[in-house]
Amino acid sequence: MADHPVVVGKLLIDGDWVPATSGRGFDVVDPGTEEVIGHVADASAADVDAAVRAARRAFDEERWLRLSSAQRGIVLWRVADLMASRAEELARLESRDVGMPVSQAALMVAEAVNQFRYYAGLADKIHGSTVDLGPAERRMHGATYREPVGVVAMIVPWNAPLIAMSMKLAPALAAGCACVLKPSEEAPLTALALGRILLEAGVPAGVVNIVTGFGPTGAALAEHPGVDKISFTGSTAVGRKIVAAATGNLKRVSLELGGKSPVVVLPEADIDAAAAGIAVGIFWNSGQICTSGTRLFAHESVYEKLVDAIAEQGRSMKVGYGTDPDALLGPLISRRQLDRVAGFVDRGVDAGARIVSGGQRLGERGFYYPPTVVADVTPAMEIVREEIFGPVLCAMPFTDLDDAITLANDTEYGLAGSVWTRDIAVAHRVARRLRAGRIGVNVHRAGGVQMPVGGYKQSGWGRENGPDALEEYLETKSVVTMLDR
Ligand code: NAI
Ligand code: MG
Repeated sequence: MADHPVVVGKLLIDGDWVPATSGRGFDVVDPGTEEVIGHVADASAADVDAAVRAARRAFDEERWLRLSSAQRGIVLWRVADLMASRAEELARLESRDVGMPVSQAALMVAEAVNQFRYYAGLADKIHGSTVDLGPAERRMHGATYREPVGVVAMIVPWNAPLIAMSMKLAPALAAGCACVLKPSEEAPLTALALGRILLEAGVPAGVVNIVTGFGPTGAALAEHPGVDKISFTGSTAVGRKIVAAATGNLKRVSLELGGKSPVVVLPEADIDAAAAGIAVGIFWNSGQICTSGTRLFAHESVYEKLVDAIAEQGRSMKVGYGTDPDALLGPLISRRQLDRVAGFVDRGVDAGARIVSGGQRLGERGFYYPPTVVADVTPAMEIVREEIFGPVLCAMPFTDLDDAITLANDTEYGLAGSVWTRDIAVAHRVARRLRAGRIGVNVHRAGGVQMPVGGYKQSGWGRENGPDALEEYLETKSVVTMLDR
């Protein structure tokens, strides 16, 4: 769009914005128009090394730790204030880069702001404890210290960049760590905007470094011996590579990976409310959310009605360009994702699934795909087993709740799930039996920064949000003092 200049992005290393040493860069594309909207640096292993060394220096010189924990909290609160004061600008940038409607991007900015406020408040509440070593050891004093884990590498995907980055940066900075962040090659622009805000808010040079690039940039970070901890959000396939790369210096690893989350609907559920909630749970952000409710198990007595009602909800959601005020959904992130999503649906149809709504790419320009409901799938179909990462719901009826729960758990993933019923006892029974880190009752995804989230099984290691996220960035040290001898 002519009214926006092409963004030129550099690397943030030790407080300075620098080009890649190779001089190489790559284009950033608006997925709604396929126009080039930015050109950012492509960091090589040498650039990654410079960023890690800068973070290490900042950590060792205690540039961040020399502030009191309360002062660090104030800086983080200032980050939140600056983000909030630029919320509209950030939302527009996120919308152009990722494709989501500006109105939705604004909600994501607000959630990212909440991350900084929450961990700003926790920054001065991180402490160890004194330990009673018992009467026989009266002359000894035991204490634990909570210390930052050190230099943290953060690798994030493109589906909700501001939130994903803030979920890592806010607790890591509250814990006192130094960071190297690598945003996704598909959506790196708000990372650079956030970098400017962090510096402006008073985060010292070198405490947060940002390297843009592709897989090899991430791989260089994952294997770098100067990194103490890596926090990754993305696909399970890359998560596995991160774990392998981390073995060199046995860096700590936390992973937020893929999902194939079940949605279980009981016969007594409020079907209209369930249809609306389930539609949001799968179609929001065009299904490009790791916790999306992708597999619907509905009791046979309500199955047809519910499937039709969700399909109708999907048809009523306008798909359009980010600045279209009526658009609820934007395009997918890239041609690759569009082809991937369409491929899953086409192969599902070949395997015998029935398209109830959607199922065909929209338009010629931009990577638009409509809300799609696919019914009459069977548990072994690829479309039921693999993470599609698009607006595609697979629906199956069930007769017996125990069978439904068995099928719901029949996945290598364990990120999220939901149960829809008016019977509170059944709700809790199902919630307990689903092997996943985050369960909604009569809602698919709700909560925010206070609620810890993360994966069971191959959906990840560790938790983000809540006090749990701080643990990911802290070590515990025991100190025993001999008082007299
Ligand atoms: P991805 O997992 O390939 O990329 C995520 C991040 O990892 C990006 O910043 C990327 O540059 C980086 N990366 C890639 N290869 C790396 C390596 N060898 N070492 C270190 N970092 C590396 O995800 P991608 O390609 O964007 O999407 C592919 C599929 O992954 C999607 O279709 C979806 O199924 C899944 N996905 C899941 C997400 C989730 O939150 N669960 C988020 C994004 C994608
Ligand atoms: Mg983009």
